[in-house]
Amino acid sequence: MKIGINTESASHESRVAVSPDTVRKLAETGHEIAIHSGAGRRAGFIDRDYAGAGASILDSSNEIVRQSDLLLHVGAPSVTEITSMRSASAVVGVLNARRDQAIVESLAEAGSTAFAMELVPRIARAQSMDVLSSQASLAGYKAVLIAAHSIGKFFPMMMTAAGTIPPAQVLVIGAGVAGLQAIATAKRLGASVFAYDVRAAAAEQVNSLGARFIAPEGAEDAESAGGYARAQTADENKDQQNFLSPHIARADAVITTAAIPGRKAPTLITQQAITKMRAGSVIVDLAAESGGNTEATQPGEVVDVNGVQVHGPINVPASMPYHASSMYSRNIEALLKLIIDDTLKLNIDFDDEVIDAMCVTHAGEVRDHTISN
Ligand code: NAI
Repeated sequence: MKIGINTESASHESRVAVSPDTVRKLAETGHEIAIHSGAGRRAGFIDRDYAGAGASILDSSNEIVRQSDLLLHVGAPSVTEITSMRSASAVVGVLNARRDQAIVESLAEAGSTAFAMELVPRIARAQSMDVLSSQASLAGYKAVLIAAHSIGKFFPMMMTAAGTIPPAQVLVIGAGVAGLQAIATAKRLGASVFAYDVRAAAAEQVNSLGARFIAPEGAEDAESAGGYARAQTADENKDQQNFLSPHIARADAVITTAAIPGRKAPTLITQQAITKMRAGSVIVDLAAESGGNTEATQPGEVVDVNGVQVHGPINVPASMPYHASSMYSRNIEALLKLIIDDTLKLNIDFDDEVIDAMCVTHAGEVRDHTISN
């Protein structure tokens, strides 16, 4: 099969869909790989690495699209790419298919079979393809580094000739994939870490990382289908804000990751709660792109509220492009094993729940359930 990899077109995207390591494995299997010159440079992979792994390096991104049976992307292909695609070719990427119906429709019109990486079901069998987990884990790590870099304090306790310095107090709100990685990272840096989540199962995971789980007395478990949290009612949300406020006030750094799939992120930190924090403290809001967990968050900005910095970083995994790309590339490898057969042809079994969930267009049609889900 002819597999193409282009430079990502989105601004601020420094990742590349496949690493030279993956190219080598695909080439050894018998695939022909073409990669756009410079596609991996910002991730730390140069053309020579890809050529050495068996890829052809092409200067024309259009030529790559025109000749490929399968196009691999980090994000969605550009409009120009979609119009140049061969009918019956396939594309894989984080297509944002539930929110960007226009891209799904244009992929269907182009006759492409499109797989949305963000729709991999969160089941044990699909863990190796789970980009939400691989990229969230990087984001959780990086959020702590942003906080540590910004607070003007040590994270660890220090006993020095100039006096004893207490450890930084770090609060993590939302202890899912990103939150647990943030907790582990803050612990490694020596901070005193406490964490909150509405899912009762998170308590054990938080404690196993050596952090302290906090929750209101008698809190109800808000876990719903698939291990995700259910949205809170307005009253529950108010109670959460009140419960969290004194904990936020004593934190040097707060990392927020709370999210509900397909909805705006819950507002857990009010403007008033931020004004109670010490000047010099920091909030890193990883939910900035889905509406933010604080009232002050601005996506892509650092907002100063009475000396408290509120960071709303976007596309955090792209700030660690080498490992973000390497992990994404492994996720892609796992998917390709599922959709390409031994004769190196696409073999799409819609009875497979992973393929059924991810495949958003096929044979010129938008697959119904994927948009209405
Ligand atoms: P996510 O990104 O949707 O949410 C992040 C965290 O925010 C979750 O832990 C959620 O409980 C929490 N949250 C939501 N609303 C909140 C609120 N109002 N207050 C406080 N916390 C709130 O979820 P993520 O991190 O992608 O995954 C969450 C869970 O999904 C995992 O812990 C696991 O149970 C399950 N999962 C299963 C996988 C598998 O089996 N392959 C892979 C990944 C996740």
